[in-house]
Amino acid sequence: MYRFSVEFLSKCHVSCGEAWSSRFARWTFTKKSLFSQESYKRSLCEKCTCLNGGNTMDEIVRQEPKIVRAIFHHTEISRDHMTPEIQLFLLTPNCPLYHVPFQTISEEDQMERNVFHEPFWSIYWPGGQALARFLLDEGKGLVSTSRNVLDVGAGCGAVAIAAKLTGAMKVVANDINEVACIAISMNAALNRVHVEVSRENLLYETPVKSVDVIFIGDMLYDEEISSALIPWLEKARQNGTRIYLSDPGRHGLTEDLKKRLKILKRYSLPESIRKENHGYDTCLVYEFCT
Ligand SMILES: C[S@@+](CC[C@H](N)C(=O)[O-])C[C@H]1O[C@@H](n2cnc3c(N)ncnc32)[C@H](O)[C@@H]1O
Repeated sequence: MYRFSVEFLSKCHVSCGEAWSSRFARWTFTKKSLFSQESYKRSLCEKCTCLNGGNTMDEIVRQEPKIVRAIFHHTEISRDHMTPEIQLFLLTPNCPLYHVPFQTISEEDQMERNVFHEPFWSIYWPGGQALARFLLDEGKGLVSTSRNVLDVGAGCGAVAIAAKLTGAMKVVANDINEVACIAISMNAALNRVHVEVSRENLLYETPVKSVDVIFIGDMLYDEEISSALIPWLEKARQNGTRIYLSDPGRHGLTEDLKKRLKILKRYSLPESIRKENHGYDTCLVYEFCT
């Protein structure tokens, strides 16, 4: 059985395993019905009446029908993670595509190939899970007084959603991946919160002084990203921005970096997350101090 790992994902395989498991039966809809049934679409849109960037789920569907359709079709709405309060469209072992090597997706299915070419947004990473858990349990003091909160490398957007649920006024979820930005909007709408979405590469810009808090979930997986991220965070810290970061111990979490981090919380990871993440068994939440 494949294990999800960053290396694995970066090769753009989507992994193997069994077909539909009984876990999926818990959901009130079936995969086939997801997009084919008008009633399901209607009920989802009615359920997600919140505004996200001025959009209801219905409007997100109208603006990006093909990408939304591919996300609906190939993911499931899951609460099977460390923050079951938050529902997310995720590519899980219950989804057939999870078991299909990327290369075998037919060239004719161009939309699937584009949407799942870099499927980081379709996974809820341990760093994001621990950070969102921390926010939901202990984050009131961190964000309730904050006007502007920024989740960089937001992926599925769970940390941004957790910040919003915890009481942050304005939350921006930033990710350079176009599909991630759409998935974030869909997930925010699903959870009836308003999260703004930005696709700029902020790491190559001067950090904005008005941001009160920055969250970073599982961004230390890539050397190039880490080497742009850390100096950028230093500048943001000099502006007085508070920075919270979570990581299971990826190679970007160097000894040098650890010296600048204050441990706030240590989470033991559930077995399913360990399996998908090279056996990492804990994930720490830190404050970036210097
Ligand atoms: C490993 S995923 C983590 C996602 C999410 N934070 C979580 O923990 O579930 C990293 C994410 O960072 C995004 N990313 C990579 N470089 C970025 C950059 N320079 N600015 C913003 N996002 C970036 C990727 O597109 C991807 O969605």
